[in-house]
Amino acid sequence: MRVLVAYASRHGATQGIAERIAETLRKAGLEAEALPAASVKNLAAYDAFVIGGAAYMFHWLKDATKFVRRNRAFLATRPVWLFSSGPIGTEPIDAQGRDQKVGAVPREFAELVPAVKARGQEIFFGAVDSGRKPIGFAERMMSVIPAAKGALPVGDFRDWPAIEAWAATIARDLA
Ligand SMILES: Cc1cc2nc3c(=O)[nH]c(=O)nc-3n(C[C@H](O)[C@H](O)[C@H](O)COP(=O)(O)O)c2cc1C
Repeated sequence: MRVLVAYASRHGATQGIAERIAETLRKAGLEAEALPAASVKNLAAYDAFVIGGAAYMFHWLKDATKFVRRNRAFLATRPVWLFSSGPIGTEPIDAQGRDQKVGAVPREFAELVPAVKARGQEIFFGAVDSGRKPIGFAERMMSVIPAAKGALPVGDFRDWPAIEAWAATIARDLA
């Protein structure tokens, strides 16, 4: 059983999650590798797929969305799981009193989860590195507008036990 963990990551936090999922799957006895979604050519080499992307401004990164849309017919015939790396901070509840993980579901999931008949979907807390170089318009604006500079919590909020536990459920499902 060969599993591909395909990811789209702007600053590396989601790549780290994808690599930990692949490592957990390998420890469970599966063949698994993590690759950037944009670099994947031969889907037929894999039996199952875990696909993850970071969420920015309520949207899944384009490379993850494009990968699923482009391959939706093939993916629908294989076991697939989707994840997003999104909320940051330590609060489980957001300012509107909602579960952070519910508010962080990328808009594309409503279309993509049923399109590939995903067996599961998950939201993981992400990371923001204070030393990162801003990429894209929103990040550049946030880095120059004084009021926006402190708007985002900075730090690594990835929950490794939760990530490994989710990967272990995938390994059990595929066993
Ligand atoms: C400008 C900006 C916008 C963001 N928007 C969202 C969002 O809409 N939803 C969310 O859950 N997380 C959001 N985040 C948090 C990122 O998704 C999180 O930091 C993620 O782990 C980054 O992953 P990456 O390093 O792989 O790019 C945002 C972060 C930044 C800097």
